[in-house]
Order: sequence, then C-alpha cells, then structure tokens
Amino acid sequence: MKAQLPNRILITGASNGLGAALARHYAAPGRTLILWGRDHQRLHAVATGCREAGAQVAVRSLDLSDSTAAIAAIEQEDEAGAIELALLVAGMGDTQAPGDLVEDAAQVARLGLVNFVAAAAMAAALANRMARRGDGRIVLVGSAAGFHALPFAAAYAGSKAGIAQFAQALRLGVKRHGVQVTLVSPGFIDTPAGRKAPGPRPFSLQPSDAAARIARAVARGQAHAIFPWPFILLRWLDRLLPRMLRDRLMLALTPPGD
Ligand SMILES: NC(=O)c1ccc[n+]([C@@H]2O[C@H](COP(=O)([O-])OP(=O)(O)OC[C@H]3O[C@@H](n4cnc5c(N)ncnc54)[C@H](OP(=O)(O)O)[C@@H]3O)[C@@H](O)[C@H]2O)c1
Repeated sequence: MKAQLPNRILITGASNGLGAALARHYAAPGRTLILWGRDHQRLHAVATGCREAGAQVAVRSLDLSDSTAAIAAIEQEDEAGAIELALLVAGMGDTQAPGDLVEDAAQVARLGLVNFVAAAAMAAALANRMARRGDGRIVLVGSAAGFHALPFAAAYAGSKAGIAQFAQALRLGVKRHGVQVTLVSPGFIDTPAGRKAPGPRPFSLQPSDAAARIARAVARGQAHAIFPWPFILLRWLDRLLPRMLRDRLMLALTPPGD
C-alpha cells in the first residue's frame, strides 16, 4: 500500500454531520473528493466549501437503501478513476419513537439496508477492485452502540455490531492484497443525528474532532479506532459483567418513557 496521502477520496453521508466534517478535513489542493448524500442543497453547500479549500469535487445524490444502485454507483466512480480512500459514513440513527415498546418493523428494515447492507456491499465491491490493483483504504463507520444490547435502539445497535464484524473479517481477507480496512466506533458526536439520541450524551465530540481522529486512524493504518477513550472502558465492562448485571445496566440506561 502507498504511504502517501490519498488523492481520490469517496465519502458517503457527506451532506451532513460527520461525513461533511470529513469532507472539510480532507479538502485540499490536488485532492479529488467524491461526495455522496441525498439532500441536494446541503450536499452542494459542503461541496462549495471544499472547492473553496482547493479540492476538486464531484457530487452524487443517491438513496443507499437501494443497495443494487449503491453497488453500481461505487463501481462507476471507481471505473472513472481509482478510489484511493473510501469513507463509508452514511447511516441512520435510532428509530424507536418515545412510548414505543419496540421499533417500527419497516423502519428496522430500512435502517438495516442503509447501515449494514449498503455499507457492506459497497465495501465488498470496492475491496475487490482495490485488491486487484494491490492498493486502497476503506473506512467503515460503526458505533460504540454496536458493543451494547441497547433495548431502545435494537436496530441501530444490531446494524453497527454487524458492520463491525463485517469490517474485521473483510480486513483480514484483503490485508495481504494491499487493502487497508479501518473500523471506527465513535461514542457521541454532536451532529443533527447525534443530537436526537435519547438521554444524556457524555463525552460528546465535535464533528471536526471526530473527523481528525478518523483521519489519524487511517494514516496510522489502525484496524479499529474507538473514541473517546471512556467507550473503550464501557466495551470491556460490557464484556466482563455477568449477563444479569449487564441486563440491569442496559435497562438502567433506557431513557424514561421508553
Ligand atoms: N452522531 C453520533 O453520535 C454518532 C455516533 C456514532 C456513530 N455515528 C455514525 O456516524 C455516521 C454519520 O452520522 P451523523 O451523526 O453524521 O448523522 P447525520 O448528521 O444524520 O448524517 C447522516 C448522513 O448519512 C446520509 N444518509 C442517511 N440515510 C441515507 C440514505 N438512505 N441514503 C443515502 N444517504 C443517507 C445523510 O444524507 P442526507 O442528510 O442527505 O439525507 C447524511 O449525509 C452514521 O453512520 C452514524 O451511525 C454517529
């Protein structure tokens, strides 16, 4: 794998929150950014900022709940010019409405398609192409929520646990072919979706801070970046506690009204 900074970078979920912060982080003269989102207006606003920072920018509006279209689009982008770094950031947050016992089934299906199916399928399509040329980096965005059985966000926690396992397995499969796969598992980030999370949001990071931490993890070739550090401790706590205590802890975290 080439050690130099990547020049052709694809970012999904670039129209808002963490993806937009990553676009701003990587925007620089000599770079080409391919920014994906759904909301035209916000996507174009992010693109304009990145162009002002000297980057060349292309945008694409696409609903990632259509995974067939997502695979075709990522292959098309890579065909037009080898993607050196793909940051697969797009995702949906919790789906349970206050007062609901469980999440709405249709919403659970949609969240699974966006957070797991499309992200995993795009990563697979790209990893295959990168492995053939012996070079490339892929970042999959999980969440600290993926380490815990959150009763009020079962679909979200489940999708993030799934993408985490997928990322670790994909990394092992393509490592010897020059492809780097990094899983990032952030705690709370102060984005529009992050602000909707029920209950308190301790150790919340600004999107620019989270973007800088992800870029450092990519540059170091890290397999898994969990941040900020209290979420590393929480993950170990969850693993070490007996099930009865863990269940009690998860129920105690459930916001009142759920
Ligand atoms: N915020 C947190 O506290 C936090 C913590 C851990 C992990 N994460 C993860 O970080 C990632 C970014 O989250 P965020 O907080 O930045 O969320 P956000 O502000 O809501 O942004 C989400 C991005 O994903 C895109 N997106 C959502 N559904 C899509 C769909 N069906 N098709 C195409 N694009 C879609 C959105 O596009 P449009 O806006 O154009 O629709 C937007 O660009 C997610 O994977 C999330 O799970 C967030």
